[in-house]
Amino acid sequence: MSNVFPEGFLWGTATAAHQVEGNNTHSDFWAMEHLPDTVFAEPSGDAIDHYHRYPEDMALLQELGFNSYRFSVEWARIEPEDGRFSTAALDHYRRMCEASLAHGLKPVLTYHHFTSPRWTVSQGGWNNMVIAEKFARYAGVVTQHLGDLTEAVCTINEVNIPRMAAMLWMADGAGDTFVQQAAQALHTTPEQFAPFMFAGSVQARDVIIAAHHQARAAIKAERPSLPVGLTIAMSDMQALPGGEAERDRMRWELQDVFLEAAREDDFVGVQTYTRERYGAEGGLGPEEGVATTQMGYEFWPQAIGATLRYASEVAGVPLMVTENGIGTTDDGRRLAYYQTALQSVADCLQDGLDVRGYFAWSAFDNFEWMLGYRPTFGLIAVDRATQQRTIKPSARWLSQVAKANRLV
Ligand code: BGC
Repeated sequence: MSNVFPEGFLWGTATAAHQVEGNNTHSDFWAMEHLPDTVFAEPSGDAIDHYHRYPEDMALLQELGFNSYRFSVEWARIEPEDGRFSTAALDHYRRMCEASLAHGLKPVLTYHHFTSPRWTVSQGGWNNMVIAEKFARYAGVVTQHLGDLTEAVCTINEVNIPRMAAMLWMADGAGDTFVQQAAQALHTTPEQFAPFMFAGSVQARDVIIAAHHQARAAIKAERPSLPVGLTIAMSDMQALPGGEAERDRMRWELQDVFLEAAREDDFVGVQTYTRERYGAEGGLGPEEGVATTQMGYEFWPQAIGATLRYASEVAGVPLMVTENGIGTTDDGRRLAYYQTALQSVADCLQDGLDVRGYFAWSAFDNFEWMLGYRPTFGLIAVDRATQQRTIKPSARWLSQVAKANRLV
């Protein structure tokens, strides 16, 4: 059992613009959060005001000994109108990259993390191939402005999540009141309603993959040496006896297709939270006796090792853990989660897997999409009334690991 990580290993935390910045008013999510029959528990509002407080937030991450920070730049701020780029927004993210580097944190940038500009939805959203071109155009502009300060780029966060949502969680909702209101607010029809999260069709899957490939080309045209990858939501998909065929079918739909699309990339970002068990009839819920997290899924920290191995086998490129963590109010559980998870990453390294970094989700308690601010994934707590930050004990442990570059 090894506990040492390779030299140059990236240790960091991750956030996403919409979940932490606040007032992302030109985005499709902002519109959806404010409908009379919204499916969001609450609007994102000021979030944790990371848009203004990033210098002090980065100082905290530096104090914790991390050497990298994965954050996203917001398409809706950078291109609030089709084809009109905001220099002020690009300059803002340039200052963020500079501050990140000044705090010893190599910026790993995500160009798309669930939210898109409102105008994309009125153009047919992620069902329309034209969005792949528009996303690539935006990726080129961002790289032109920030590429010299960037360590690596994740084009699209969790390319497979819309398909996963459609197959596992969401009913077909064109008739739904929320979809009707959202379609109207975003100037489209319920039938054509396809913001990223709601773009679960096979056609949208192909648009998303094309958007990644075209963006990669646009980024490489600006900076050939900048490492580019996508990220993918991966649970450890386990088969009970008799469940192999069903597990394999789902794994092909939800993981293989996307991992195969990443074979020419510089890395794959693996994002893992739990496992899922399959029987002959399909997905089984949490196993009796296994604890669950705030999200309702099993506490299964060893899943990260299994998903890294699977991603490596199918994609055959270097890997980065771009998200891993737990939503819980019990920080002792968080600590236990990270201890087991990191041991399984260390075991993968010992077995020869090329894992380049580990980013905990998340740096701060933040806006957990439809669930609002209730789930708490942060290593750092935030009192949103005062915006005061408090480092949790689990962060202190991870800090020691990052500083020592070995499990302690
Ligand atoms: C997403 C994050 C989210 C996290 C925890 C991932 O699917 O990339 O935005 O907050 O999981 O649920």
